[in-house]
Amino acid sequence: MSASQHEAATGLPVHAQMIQIFMAPWIAQAVRAAAELHLADHLAEQSRTASDLASLTGTRSDALYRLLRALSAVGVFAQDEDGKFAMTPLGATLKSDTDDSLRYAAIYSAAQWHWDAWNHIVHTLKTGETGWSVAHGEDYFPFLERNEEAGRIFNNTMVEFARPVHHGVTAAYDFSQIRTLVDVGGGQGALLTSILQANPGLAGILFDAPNVLDQAKPFLAEAGITDRVELASGSFFETVPSADGYILCHIMHDWQDEPARTILTNIRRAITENGRLLLVDSVIPEGGEFSPGKILDLEMMVAVNGRERTEQEFRDLLGKAGFRLARVIPTASQSSIIEAVPA
Ligand SMILES: C[S@@+](CC[C@H](N)C(=O)[O-])C[C@H]1O[C@@H](n2cnc3c(N)ncnc32)[C@H](O)[C@@H]1O
Repeated sequence: MSASQHEAATGLPVHAQMIQIFMAPWIAQAVRAAAELHLADHLAEQSRTASDLASLTGTRSDALYRLLRALSAVGVFAQDEDGKFAMTPLGATLKSDTDDSLRYAAIYSAAQWHWDAWNHIVHTLKTGETGWSVAHGEDYFPFLERNEEAGRIFNNTMVEFARPVHHGVTAAYDFSQIRTLVDVGGGQGALLTSILQANPGLAGILFDAPNVLDQAKPFLAEAGITDRVELASGSFFETVPSADGYILCHIMHDWQDEPARTILTNIRRAITENGRLLLVDSVIPEGGEFSPGKILDLEMMVAVNGRERTEQEFRDLLGKAGFRLARVIPTASQSSIIEAVPA
């Protein structure tokens, strides 16, 4: 495609479009600032001037005006003719304590300790070592366990990102064939809760590290499903409880093929012969089209040392662990359900 064909297709000269790409991280930082300062919460009920918002947030009026003007230019807020700033549907995702909030995700995405890892992307490309370990001297999960504030932001971000996936999975799959479902690496049990509430005949086992299960107890009690969920602690690199159904949501993409295969092999040993294994992850299309999973895959490479996979890569990985990929079921979210059965 020539530059003029590109311009005709996108409506933008190539230089202008590339400069917009360079500017995307600056917008992400401006959004992080808005999230940290609770600007969306302050604008939830009424439009306000920059100086009013500056008083509420302890910032300088002129600087905050420039931030609000820039964010209004990209639709996060709206600038009225009288100079006040107002909420928009996009900005409303930054409100705290709503069911579809992305406020913590905005903070996580542009947090300094996160960007420090991305600064080393060329090192990752040349050596395979994660930018995260170069920046922090330790791997992703140990860092988040040790740093309380970063860990809190990460955990809340996972809840925000996972919510639409959990709803999508619950709606897209017929769980009636399964009697006991093990949520492997199930975290605080949000996915299991969603599935059990929609399937009254199903029993659940929440499998994760002991400290994570402790955090899950109040959530399960609040959801009223404590008596339907067994808590099982351990490492999926060693063994998992026996059952006829397993679900792993956003677990496979955290790991390279060898550790991922170890997890699946442990499940193969424990699953009943007529059992079902459900992997929930992005499935990367083979072609050149846009897919959010292709961008998330870079995060997995730079920060976590994991990877997103194509359907064929899932088929190969499952095959090496004694499973057969049965079908890929899309959900209303960006993640799909990869259903597998013992081979
Ligand atoms: C990205 S989170 C996914 C949480 C959950 N499945 C969801 O969809 O929200 C990864 C989970 O794997 C758990 N995990 C990590 N290593 C583990 C291990 N060796 N054994 C069991 N769980 C582990 C973590 O504690 C965490 O809850």
